[in-house]
Amino acid sequence: MTDKTSAVAADGAASASGGASAGDLAGEDLAGNGLSPDETAEHYNIEHYCWPQHGTERRSAAAGPTLYYRDSVVEVHKVVVGPIDNNVFVVRCRQTGDAVLVDAANEHEKLLELCGALGVRHVIETHGHWDHIAAVPEIREAGYDVHVAEPDAYMLDNAYDQFIDDESVIEVGRLRLHTLLTPGHTPGSMCFQVEGTPLLFSGDTLFPGGPGATNFEGGHFPTIIESLDKLIFSRFAPETVVLPGHGDDTTIGRESPHLQEWADRGW
Ligand SMILES: [Fe+2]
Repeated sequence: MTDKTSAVAADGAASASGGASAGDLAGEDLAGNGLSPDETAEHYNIEHYCWPQHGTERRSAAAGPTLYYRDSVVEVHKVVVGPIDNNVFVVRCRQTGDAVLVDAANEHEKLLELCGALGVRHVIETHGHWDHIAAVPEIREAGYDVHVAEPDAYMLDNAYDQFIDDESVIEVGRLRLHTLLTPGHTPGSMCFQVEGTPLLFSGDTLFPGGPGATNFEGGHFPTIIESLDKLIFSRFAPETVVLPGHGDDTTIGRESPHLQEWADRGW
């Protein structure tokens, strides 16, 4: 199990630099790629690219203030929970109403309410650090299966239901979430890309301003740099919107030019 103090420092350091919210991103050229906001919205049929989270307010309506992003195929809800502000997302198929929760991080009552209101079928974990899994026991007790990549499963004290394979597809209604094992922050860190949308859920692998921290058990800096280079920056378009496990969103186009700078500084 990862030491709590080091994980806090790690995540805090990694997400310290400034980023942009989804709301911010809707109002500018997303990645300096020449697409105007209107063109981007049209390209992805974005009808609502919206609010930041609303603190600890409890909501039950499916289209309530947790709604964070919506286009023609997907709806994303976001809440921020726990002592180090973990982002928890619900990714929901607009056609069928089926949904998946990304990271049962903390504040299980709030998450269970969201799960019930939004049609969540199961939970996928971006990785096994304590701050991303604190609500797993209660979520499982309520009947939701929790999926995690095998290399991080030990961090859940074997309290999980299924492994997430690399380069697989998780079907959520008619949505297809492509899985990507991107080790470095932890050996089993996963990213999830929603097919047909600009969305990439990056866990603690990529933040605005740099990679997730690697200075604790299981972390490895050269590995996270390689993951970013070969598995993320070389695969995804500049306008891809990155939704990390803490803090604000960013885009591939905004971050990828800085990879060498991050490699040189060593964090
Ligand atoms: Fe982490």
